[in-house]
Amino acid sequence: MVIQGYPDPGPGLRLHLNENTGGCSPRVLEAIRRVRPSDVSTYPSYRDAIAATARHFGVNPDWVLLTNGLDEGILMAAVGHIARTRIHDAETIIPLPAFDPYPNSTAAVGAAAIRVPPGRDFAFPTEAVIDAITPRTRMIFLNTPNNPTGQLIPIEDLRRIARAAPGAVVLIDEAYIEFGGTSFLPELPACPNVLVGRTLSKAYGLAGLRVGIVIGQPPALDPVRAVTLPFNINGVALAALDAALGDAEFLPRYAAQVQESRERLYAACRRLGLEFWPSAANYVLVRVGDTAPFVAALAARRIHVRDRSKDPITAGCIRITAGMVEHTGAAIEALESVVGSEQSS
Ligand SMILES: Cc1ncc(COP(=O)(O)O)c(C=O)c1O
Repeated sequence: MVIQGYPDPGPGLRLHLNENTGGCSPRVLEAIRRVRPSDVSTYPSYRDAIAATARHFGVNPDWVLLTNGLDEGILMAAVGHIARTRIHDAETIIPLPAFDPYPNSTAAVGAAAIRVPPGRDFAFPTEAVIDAITPRTRMIFLNTPNNPTGQLIPIEDLRRIARAAPGAVVLIDEAYIEFGGTSFLPELPACPNVLVGRTLSKAYGLAGLRVGIVIGQPPALDPVRAVTLPFNINGVALAALDAALGDAEFLPRYAAQVQESRERLYAACRRLGLEFWPSAANYVLVRVGDTAPFVAALAARRIHVRDRSKDPITAGCIRITAGMVEHTGAAIEALESVVGSEQSS
């Protein structure tokens, strides 16, 4: 059964949304089991969760906003900085390829998206982004590591862009930073126009609970806070947050699985003659050619991957989540069998 607006690939291994294929910390499940009736019957209190989050990221609690997934944070940033100001000719800058909520949020607030194509092999177009800045630029969406390429933006380039656009808010989306690269967070005290976006959906394995974090100085964060609905995070997710952030062993253990999985996927691509791009995140972008039959053949083997062909910049490519090594092994077997049957037909 297909329900409009709710795509579901059906049973099988979900390697299409970059979720944590190993689940979440057992401490998270224990914390959820300890939820009391009053945690459910009352509106949640955010104080302890904000304090724990601020401590974890080493920032002032006034710089932290919890959102219903980082998706909500992205939309609310656009609402707070564009819709709320009623500036009618606002522009956002979106380097390509980009995560869909950036253009979608831009459209939702009636702004124009200025799309900046990448260089060869998806090289980040720093100079072109700086050249695209105008007095109309209200927001710049930067994503490091990039979804779907897995490429990082050097910290110095992030700093240069933030300095070049003092009249705009620069949202640095670090949804996958736990898997590779260096966070921009230590730079925030020098950058009043930057918001850093984080999520507990990926490395921490809480995609089903919906917790995103937007961090920034008051000039950048307060307009977002002003439009974010009260009680946007539910009480069960709040109970899980402290447990997720507090399990210091969970993250490095999973990041090691992801690193090994990436290496195995690279090796498989080399063996199979498929072009791929080395990734700092928990997925790998692979060029397979005609994607639709390829994705369907993998799905028939119960391996669900993301078809990236809709975006001309990543035409002919699929994106495969690199999670637990065991799951990557199953994906590689399926890849080998699909490429093998293509070659013999
Ligand atoms: C680049 C990027 N940013 C943000 C998100 C949103 O994460 P969530 O809303 O689950 O916190 C995702 C999820 O796929 C993503 O890929």
